Amino acid sequence: MLAAALQAAGDVDRGTHGFHTYPAGLHPDAARDLVGAFEGASVLDPFCGGGTVLVEALLAGRRAVGRDVSPVSQLVSRARCSLASDEVLTATRSWARRATEAARSATQPPEVPIRRVVEQWYAPHAMWEIESIRRGIPEAPQAARPLLWAALSSLLIKVSWRRSDTSAKRVKHRRPRGTTAVLFHKKVRELARRIAALRDAVPEGTPEADIALQDARRLQIEPVDLAVTSPPYPSTYDYLPLQHLRRVWLGLTDGAGEIGARRDWRDGERTARRQWLIDTRDWTTRVAEKLRPGGHLVVVIGDGLTPSGTVDTSEPTEEAARFAGLQAVARASVQRADHARQSQRWEHAFAFVKPEESS
Ligand SMILES: C[S@@+](CC[C@H](N)C(=O)[O-])C[C@H]1O[C@@H](n2cnc3c(N)ncnc32)[C@H](O)[C@@H]1O
Repeated sequence: MLAAALQAAGDVDRGTHGFHTYPAGLHPDAARDLVGAFEGASVLDPFCGGGTVLVEALLAGRRAVGRDVSPVSQLVSRARCSLASDEVLTATRSWARRATEAARSATQPPEVPIRRVVEQWYAPHAMWEIESIRRGIPEAPQAARPLLWAALSSLLIKVSWRRSDTSAKRVKHRRPRGTTAVLFHKKVRELARRIAALRDAVPEGTPEADIALQDARRLQIEPVDLAVTSPPYPSTYDYLPLQHLRRVWLGLTDGAGEIGARRDWRDGERTARRQWLIDTRDWTTRVAEKLRPGGHLVVVIGDGLTPSGTVDTSEPTEEAARFAGLQAVARASVQRADHARQSQRWEHAFAFVKPEESS
C-alpha cells in the first residue's frame, strides 16, 4: 500500500483538489489511501501545504487538523476545506461577477509598497485588474472574503511573467486587457463548484477542518489518532520566499520557521544538514507526543538533491521516529524522475505506531 501511494499519478477531479497550485503537493489518491489505511476519528497534517490530506480526511468523515508555517498554505487549505453553504457560495459568485465587470476597465495602480514589488512581473493592465479586485475584497460579504482571496491567489502566478510557482524565471506573454478579471470570475465559479461537490461528499456530522499557522516543532493541538504528512524534502524548495509575490498582493505575513529550506543548504551544507536532522527529530517528537496511544504516523519524504550529492532522508526519518518512541510498521521506497533537476530521486513512505501505554 505504501509503495502504491508513492506511485499514484494522473489528474484527479475530486472535491476541491486541483484548485490552486501548491509546490510538492501529495497526490490526492496517495492521501486518500494513506488516510484510509489507518483508523481513528482525527487526522493531523503538521505540514499541510495545500491541504490535500485534510480534504481526504474530510471526505473520510474524520476531524481534519492542519498546521503549516506558510500563510499561503493557510489560505489555500482553508479554501480547499471549506464546506460553505449554498447561500455563501451564491453571495461569493455574485460579488465576483460585479467585481469582474469593474476590474475589466480599471486603470488604478497599486500603492507604492505593493507596486514596487509587483510591477516588474505584470503587464500594466493585468496589474490594474488585480489591484481593482484586491481593493474591493475587504468590502465583500465577510463569509465570502476567504474564498475570494483564495481565488485571487490562484491566478496571481498564472497571469504574471513568472514561469511558475517554483521558477522565478521571467517569461513574458501577452494577456489581452480584461482577461485577468475574467479569469478571476472563472476561478471563483470553479472554487464554488468544487466546494459544493466536497460538501455533498463529506459525511454528515464531519466537523469543519481546524487549520492554523503553526510550526510543526511546536504543535499545540488536542491529541489525534493519525498523522499523515509530507514534510519538506531537504534542500528542495524555499516555500516561504516562493510565495513572496502572493504575500505582497494579498497582504499576508511573511511566515517564519521553515525547515529544510534550499537556501539553508546554499548558506552551508554541513550546518544545514545538522540543523535538518535536529528539526526532523523535533517535529517527529512533537507529533508523537500528540498521537493517542495506538495512533499512527505516516511520513512521505524524498531525498534531497544538492550540488554535492544526495541527502538521504530514510535513515534520519526512522531514527527520529525511534527517538520519539514510535515503532516501525511498514516502509517502501521508489525511485522517481525529478525533471527540474534532470535527475532521479528516491522517495520513501513510512508508517509508525505509538505503542499502547505500557504499565
Ligand atoms: C511538501 S509541502 C506539503 C505539501 C502538502 N502535503 C500538500 O499536499 O499540499 C511541505 C510544507 O511544509 C511547510 N513547512 C516548512 N517548515 C515548516 C514547519 N517548521 N512547520 C510547519 N510547516 C512547515 C511548508 O510551508 C510547506 O507547505
